[in-house]
Amino acid sequence: MSTTSPAAIEITGLRKAYARQLVLDGLDLTVPLGTVTALLGANGAGKTTTVSILSTLVPADAGSATVLGHDVRSQPDAVRRLIGLTGQLSAVDPLLTAQENLRLMADLRLLPRSRRRHRVDELLETFGLAAARRTPTQALSGGMRRKLDLAMTLVGDPRVVFLDEPTTGLDPRARRDLWQQVRELVSDGTTVLLTTQYLEEADQLADTVAVLHGGRLVAHDTPAGLKTAHDAGSLDDVFLALTDPEAPSTDQHEEIA
Ligand SMILES: Nc1ncnc2c1ncn2[C@@H]1O[C@H](COP(=O)(O)OP(=O)(O)OP(=O)(O)O)[C@@H](O)[C@H]1O
Ligand SMILES: [Mg+2]
Repeated sequence: MSTTSPAAIEITGLRKAYARQLVLDGLDLTVPLGTVTALLGANGAGKTTTVSILSTLVPADAGSATVLGHDVRSQPDAVRRLIGLTGQLSAVDPLLTAQENLRLMADLRLLPRSRRRHRVDELLETFGLAAARRTPTQALSGGMRRKLDLAMTLVGDPRVVFLDEPTTGLDPRARRDLWQQVRELVSDGTTVLLTTQYLEEADQLADTVAVLHGGRLVAHDTPAGLKTAHDAGSLDDVFLALTDPEAPSTDQHEEIA
């Protein structure tokens, strides 16, 4: 897909294998600044692996990836300063309250003391957690913990945010609330790469949708463009057509010897 805006994320020829299993087989992906890209794929397609490589948690075997021009392998500290990650598994400490979790994150992000308090209060308010600020997190509902997860990701005002299945388990209203938070983030210039199994979420939220299958992208276009190209009424139909396990996408899918 061609784009005129500069890239927030640039992935070229990324490869990753675990033991004998090839997960990423030459992945290329460009995410323009200030946009939302949804990375779709079946369970085990490599979405979390991609996010983990981009957030410097896992090394790639080959290829390159940059975030705001910084190479994830050679400049991991610069990348970490610029990104926020809401992982597929929660980062919330269940023994701390919502406020304490946010303060801890503010300290880890080295926020100045004067800014810390204001930022923590602001996020508690924004995510509807103010009333629960002194509740131990283990007593919150799963959806509220997920909101806290996202709030913790945003403490340091990251310029690029990775959201790995951010709305799994949220009720429809909480999901829409979170979409709204993401839209506001992006209107402030933040770039978002999200993974999701909810294709309506991708349709509603993403500027572009990238579909991972067989270790590579098999499509990357706007939701409308994908539906038109596949003569499909919904992204579900597009997804099913593109990720058919009986029709491997890569022409020369390699086995690891
Ligand atoms: N640390 C690891 N060690 C061995 N195999 C791994 C490891 N992490 C991931 N894998 C394997 O790599 C493949 C891709 O996993 P990944 O978590 O990236 O998929 P995913 O697209 O995020 O799936 P899901 O939709 O289930 O979250 C899977 O087959 C998984 O079992
Ligand atoms: Mg995953």
